[in-house]
Amino acid sequence: MNKIIIEPFKIKSVEPISINTKIERQKIIKNAHYNLFSINSRDVIIDLLTDSGTGAMSSEQWAGIMRGDESYAGSNSFERFNKAVKNIFGFEYVIPTHQGRAAEKILFEVICKEGDIIPSNAHFDTTRANIEFQQAIAKDLIPDRFKDTQLDDPFKGNMDIEKLKNLIDEHLDKIPIIMMTITNNTGGGQPVSMANIRDVSDIAKEHNIPLYIDACRFAENAYFIKQRENGYSEQSIEDIVKEMFSYADGCTMSAKKDGISNIGGFLCTNDEELSNRKKDLLILTEGFPTYGGLAGRDLDAIAIGLREAMDVDYLNYRINSTSYLGKKIHDYGVPILMPPGGHAIYIDAGLFLPHIPKEEFPGQALACTLYVEGGIRSSEIGSLMFGDNSPHELVRLAIPRRTYTQSHIDYVIEIIKEVYNQKESIKGLKIIKQPKFLRHFSAKLTTIK
Ligand SMILES: Cc1ncc(COP(=O)(O)O)c(C=O)c1O
Repeated sequence: MNKIIIEPFKIKSVEPISINTKIERQKIIKNAHYNLFSINSRDVIIDLLTDSGTGAMSSEQWAGIMRGDESYAGSNSFERFNKAVKNIFGFEYVIPTHQGRAAEKILFEVICKEGDIIPSNAHFDTTRANIEFQQAIAKDLIPDRFKDTQLDDPFKGNMDIEKLKNLIDEHLDKIPIIMMTITNNTGGGQPVSMANIRDVSDIAKEHNIPLYIDACRFAENAYFIKQRENGYSEQSIEDIVKEMFSYADGCTMSAKKDGISNIGGFLCTNDEELSNRKKDLLILTEGFPTYGGLAGRDLDAIAIGLREAMDVDYLNYRINSTSYLGKKIHDYGVPILMPPGGHAIYIDAGLFLPHIPKEEFPGQALACTLYVEGGIRSSEIGSLMFGDNSPHELVRLAIPRRTYTQSHIDYVIEIIKEVYNQKESIKGLKIIKQPKFLRHFSAKLTTIK
C-alpha cells in the first residue's frame, strides 16, 4: 500500500470551522466550568468528542434521503433497509430502532429478569445501564493482561474463554444470553478475532444460550480480521462479516457508527416468537415495525451507509488514518492505549501527567488543555466519568467517519506534541458542583492553583 493515505472521496459540500484564539478559548473553557460537554460546537475547531452520528454522509446517502418513503406502514424505505440488513448480517427478523440503546432496551426487557447475569467481552455503558435497569448484572470478561494499556495484542477485544466457562459452570440457569461487542469501544476500539467469536459461539451452543453481537463497528472489526487473522487476507469484507454473524443468534446495532448515518439502529434475531415480543414493545415505545422511531429517509440512508462502510478502500483509509494519529504521537513519546484502535486513539493521561493524582482528574485536565491549546474537543474516560473505581485515566480522541482530512489530523498531532512538551505545567482540577448520576456530562470544575 502507498505510504500516503488519501481520503477515498471528493468533497462536495463543506461546513465551515471558525478558528478562535487561545485567549478566547481560555475564557470559553472557564465559562464552561472546565466541562467540554458545555461548550458550543461553533467554539470547537476539531471535534473528537465522539464518532457516533458525526460521520459525513455520501452523495448516494443524500440521494437516498430524497427517495425516502414516509408511509406509516409498509414503506418502501423499510423494504430496502430490511433487504440490506438481512443480506449483510443474515438474520431472519429485523427491527428498526431510533438508535442503539433503544435496541438494547427492547432486547433486555424481553430477555432478562432480576438477578440474571449477562456476560460480554466488555459491555458498552448504555448496554450495561440497560441490563442494570432490569436489575440484572452486566459482567465483563476481558483477560486480565489486556488491562495493561501498553500491552500490544492484535485482538485485544477478545473474550476470556476460561472466565466464560467458569461463569457458566457456576450460574448457567441465570444466563439468558451472551453478548460480544465488536469492536470493544470501552476497551479502546480493539477488535475481536473470528476464532474468539467461534469459540464463544461453540460454548453458547453447547449450553443452549443465545449469542448476540453488539454490531456497532462490525465493518471495522472485519477489516482487522482481514489484516491480522490467518486465512482471511484474501476474503472480502462482506464474506468476513457474514461469517462473524453466522455464529450469532441476533445483534443490536447503532447505525450512527458503521451505518455512517446521523441517527438510527436496529435489533435482529432468528427467533420468530422473540421477534414478535420485541415488536410488541417496539410499537409501545418506538413506533410501527416498518419505521421503528425513524423517518423513512433515515432507513434509506442506513441501507446505503452499511454497504459503504464495508468498502475496502474506505476501510483502508479509516483504520490507517486512525493508526497514523496513534503512531505519530506514540513515536513522540505520548503514552497511548496500544495498539491503536479502529475508531479512536486513547491517550493514557495517568502516564502523561504522573504529577496529577487521580483525585484531581488528570484526564479532564489534559482534555481541557487540548481544547485551550488547539480547540480540540475530546472526552475524558477516567475518574470523572467512572469515579474512584476507574481503572485508567484516559482521554479519547474519537474520529468521526469521512469528516476530517489528513491536514486536520496533522494539526491534532502538532497540538498534542506541543501539549506534551509543556506537560509539567498542566494543573489538576476539582469539582465544585456535580449531579447524582453520570456526572461527567454536567459537573462543574475549577482549576487547582
Ligand atoms: C459499542 C456500543 N454499543 C452501543 C452504543 C449505543 O448506541 P447509541 O448511541 O446509538 O444509543 C454505542 C454508542 O456509542 C457503542 O459504542
